[in-house]
Amino acid sequence: MSCSVNIKNLSNTRNGALLYENVLLDVSHKEKIAIIGPNGCGKTTLLETIAGLQTLQHGSLELFHQPMNHSNDFASMRHLIGYLFQDSDNQFLAPVVEDDVAFTLLAQGVSKEEARLKTMMILQDLGISHLSKKIVYHLSGGEKKLVALAGVLVTEPKLMLLDEPTNGLDHAMQVRLVEILKAIDKSIIIVSHHQEFIESVVDKVYALTPKGLVCTLNKQRAHSYHFHEHTGHAHTH
Ligand SMILES: Nc1ncnc2c1ncn2[C@@H]1O[C@H](COP(=O)(O)OP(=O)(O)O)[C@@H](O)[C@H]1O
Ligand SMILES: [Mg+2]
Repeated sequence: MSCSVNIKNLSNTRNGALLYENVLLDVSHKEKIAIIGPNGCGKTTLLETIAGLQTLQHGSLELFHQPMNHSNDFASMRHLIGYLFQDSDNQFLAPVVEDDVAFTLLAQGVSKEEARLKTMMILQDLGISHLSKKIVYHLSGGEKKLVALAGVLVTEPKLMLLDEPTNGLDHAMQVRLVEILKAIDKSIIIVSHHQEFIESVVDKVYALTPKGLVCTLNKQRAHSYHFHEHTGHAHTH
């Protein structure tokens, strides 16, 4: 099986207190999963650890089959990973919306013209073309979230890490986001409290507990492993 993320025996502390231990996680190629859990249980910390934004304290992490032991290892993966921050203000790289969305593309060496076209297309997909000339810090919370998301989607990462993507979005935009994420054929890890939203998008839901991740929903298994009345046996197809 081709794996985008493989975590073994990961634990993390904050201010000397153990947040969680024994975290095991495999996210296969193009799989979409969600991580849920109460405030402060360490969801953001775990997502940041996967992205290399937090030091790996204990355990092992592989991204695309490469062991992530040092910050250099993460640097070589950076172009494959898209990270949406819980707080959009941490995300912005330029003051004007269209420059912010194009920033990473330009940094990756994409031509100005291609970056402009891709930026226009993603703003259109998200229904926010009218924001293109605005100053990011003047936007509402929901608008900031969409601009931040545009900056992530535009680089077409192979692994998307989305921390509370629906925060501040109205219902219509949440529905649109479900459609957008469902159509993306990449690995996605979503941290969210929003049960209806995540169940519409992901294949598996894990609860983060102090003792590790517990799978609470597995649509893949629900499809392949089921009970037939005629035989009286549960089996897989
Ligand atoms: N930069 C930080 N420095 C110290 N403690 C932090 C920091 N960020 C978060 N914490 C603490 O770590 C714990 C886990 O936080 P977090 O990963 O943000 O949880 P969640 O995303 O599940 O709400 C919380 O108790 C929080 O107060
Ligand atoms: Mg959080």
